[in-house]
Amino acid sequence: MKFTALTALVALLPAIALAEQAGHGHDNGGHHGGGPSDPTYPQPFRKNDLKALVTFGDSYTDTTWITNGGTIQWPQMVANYADISLYPYAKSGGTCSNNITYRPFPPVFGSQIPTFLADEKNHTIRLNERETLYSLWIGTNDVGVSSLLTGDNKASILDVAGCMVDWVTTMYGYGARNFLFQNMVPLELTPLYSAHSWPNRYWNLERNTTEWSVTMRELVLSGNALTKLMLQGLASKLHDAHIGLFDSHTLFNDMYTNPAAWLNGTAPAFNVTGCVDSCIYQIDSTESVCTMVNGTDRDSYLWYDELHPSEQADRHVAREIANIFEGTGSKFVTWLS
Ligand SMILES: *[C@@H]1O[C@H](CO)[C@@H](O)[C@H](O)[C@H]1NC(C)=O
Ligand SMILES: *[C@@H]1O[C@H](CO)[C@@H](O)[C@H](O)[C@H]1NC(C)=O
Ligand SMILES: *[C@@H]1O[C@H](CO)[C@@H](O)[C@H](O)[C@H]1NC(C)=O
Ligand SMILES: *[C@@H]1O[C@H](CO)[C@@H](O)[C@H](O)[C@H]1NC(C)=O
Ligand SMILES: *[C@@H]1O[C@H](CO)[C@@H](O)[C@H](O)[C@H]1NC(C)=O
Ligand SMILES: *[C@@H]1O[C@H](CO)[C@@H](O)[C@H](O)[C@H]1NC(C)=O
Repeated sequence: MKFTALTALVALLPAIALAEQAGHGHDNGGHHGGGPSDPTYPQPFRKNDLKALVTFGDSYTDTTWITNGGTIQWPQMVANYADISLYPYAKSGGTCSNNITYRPFPPVFGSQIPTFLADEKNHTIRLNERETLYSLWIGTNDVGVSSLLTGDNKASILDVAGCMVDWVTTMYGYGARNFLFQNMVPLELTPLYSAHSWPNRYWNLERNTTEWSVTMRELVLSGNALTKLMLQGLASKLHDAHIGLFDSHTLFNDMYTNPAAWLNGTAPAFNVTGCVDSCIYQIDSTESVCTMVNGTDRDSYLWYDELHPSEQADRHVAREIANIFEGTGSKFVTWLS
């Protein structure tokens, strides 16, 4: 895996300048909010071309473990908004591959993809590849606590980025043709990884929050840059495929710096630094004091808990992705092929 990722990167370097040039011209001005009334953003699909969504990833995307405080996650919202079929395979706690970043949860490689293949084989699902969009949103656990950030494995961000992009090649090999690759959010802005963090349910041991925040920013920025370069290099090599890069990083950065354009709750102030469901722990102890924000106040928050997006943040992720199915396109998606 390590060798493959490195080789792929080196092979890509000459293509970078050209790809960067081709990527210009996507500035859509300062308009915010998304939604069906927006102008159309370039994409290779018209309304009704795509009829199904197959999702891979971690707790941000898992539909059996609701992490936004609501009753559904963003994939079911997309299915509702755009009236399409959903085949969800993402699992909470998962990383890209347990061979690279081991955690005791179902990873994309080794668990989620094999489950998908088994479902196809026994006809639990039947997909028309031209009408199906495959999505991947992974990395939160790979770069986070008990993994890269805390040095719990021998992996590097290059290994992780290589694995993420291998998902495209691997699924292409199984017949998939349309891909949506969701990059990592600015994790250093989540309460868990921010400089003003508190001891919480995900980490209650002593630590230097400034160092965590700085390191996390580096991991996310370099990981996102690596996957972008690798995908740009891959795009022209996969005949008949469409690869879209969903810029979660820009979307969440915008929600953080510009909350009035995205959050609409009834709390007295927008809140992008705290969370709806927060628990402040004693260091190295199970004692905690928890606060829960209820009702329509919740939609004033960017984060649900110390690690996960709020329901309102998820609605925006879903709206942008639904717009792909509805033919409008999204300003957060760049189609590399
Ligand atoms: C992980 O390692 C095992 C044992 O070496 C191997 O059989 C498997 O194919 C590897 N999986 C991936 C996704 O690389
Ligand atoms: C098909 O395989 C999946 C994954 O192993 C399994 O969960 C499901 O029950 C199987 N369905 C049938 C109809 O055999
Ligand atoms: C935490 O790390 C920062 C950055 O390295 C450093 O400036 C600061 O002194 C550290 N704080 C403590 C309490 O060690
Ligand atoms: C905020 O907007 C979303 C649509 O983005 C809507 O579903 C939700 O009900 C709104 N929340 C409040 C408190 O009005
Ligand atoms: C944001 O939420 C946190 C709870 O996580 C709270 O402590 C903080 O005071 C709130 N900030 C604002 C500006 O309301
Ligand atoms: C939210 O609801 C819970 C459960 O009913 C309650 O314990 C808590 O005090 C409420 N929070 C606020 C801020 O009112």
